[in-house]
Amino acid sequence: MQSIPIPNVSLPVPFSPEQASTFAPHVDALYVYLVTLTAFLTLAVSAAIVFFAVKYRRRQPDELPRPIAGSMVLELTWTIIPLMVAMTIFIWGASIYFKAYRAPQQAMEVYVVAKQWMWKFQHQTGQREINELHIPVGARVKLTMTTEDVIHSFYVPAFRIKQDVVPGRYLQTWFEATKTGKFYLFCAEYCGTNHSGMGGYIYVMEPAAYQQWLAGGSGAESAASQGQKLFQQRGCASCHQVEAGGQQGRGPTLYGIFGRQQQIEGDGAVTVDESYIRESILNPQAKTAAGFQNIMPTFQGQLSEEQILQLVAYVRSLAPAGQQPGAAAAGTQTTSGPTTGGVPPSQQRSNPLAPTGERQGSPAPQAPPAGNTGTTGNANRRP
Ligand code: CUA
Repeated sequence: MQSIPIPNVSLPVPFSPEQASTFAPHVDALYVYLVTLTAFLTLAVSAAIVFFAVKYRRRQPDELPRPIAGSMVLELTWTIIPLMVAMTIFIWGASIYFKAYRAPQQAMEVYVVAKQWMWKFQHQTGQREINELHIPVGARVKLTMTTEDVIHSFYVPAFRIKQDVVPGRYLQTWFEATKTGKFYLFCAEYCGTNHSGMGGYIYVMEPAAYQQWLAGGSGAESAASQGQKLFQQRGCASCHQVEAGGQQGRGPTLYGIFGRQQQIEGDGAVTVDESYIRESILNPQAKTAAGFQNIMPTFQGQLSEEQILQLVAYVRSLAPAGQQPGAAAAGTQTTSGPTTGGVPPSQQRSNPLAPTGERQGSPAPQAPPAGNTGTTGNANRRP
């Protein structure tokens, strides 16, 4: 795999990457604020040093300063004002952080598995990509990410998002691209020899072009459908019912379980989410559903991270039509239609960081159609 070429920046000084997501202006504004504040304080303190050094310099060899006992007013002032200034940074930063790291309910979902040294993506419709991710402009995209080996970090500078991926955990991030084009994806955590080459591109396409791209892979089977096959092959079905109103087997019925509170043996309850399903597959003893025997075998080492994500997609799809949380397109039918979680981008405007007006002009060239191989030299490209 080739390393990523240095971006070709047209500005004389590349202060920051292109702004291509709804987060970017917010992050940049905070950054400018920090730089301005820091520059102001540096200048103010330097000026004060020079001014006082001159003003209070010793004029006679035997000169002694007047003793100063202290000043409560002065001390309170230089404590409270900096505190308030620091709090503006904290509040502003925290508000952006919470928006960026709490994914919205309604979003197009993509599963991401990192490994040394590549990024593997799977759309809910089943299309897989390596080191390339095609997405529509103006749609919220939620990434559920994990890694097969060591810690990596998913970093798209133009979107101002960066999220570590950690072995054994699902981490989520999301973004909404505001312009079409091709944007760099990097691994931002040193992960071994070819860390610097572990990157790729996000292709942001007009919705129509994206649909066309999706259709190009219409042979693909949805992630949920692939999960269903695994579910049969691995014998999950012999204990877990998947039908509505089916009789309870030796394990909990999985229909409609996703997103619910599940009582567990011992005490308490857990929300059935991606992480709980994953844990229940790999370490079933950890949180056994109340009322069931602790008899499920572990599948540790028998399923790849991608297969586990497909099983998760399948369990999510086991819900009344239209109620699959954020994954309306993830039914067991094969691919068709949009994958924006059943919510067209035009109706996703409750987004707290949505662009206020029309999208910015899209000077970037249209992302290439499927089959354009770009320059990343990846294996496993979609046909
Ligand atoms: Cu993966 Cu650095």
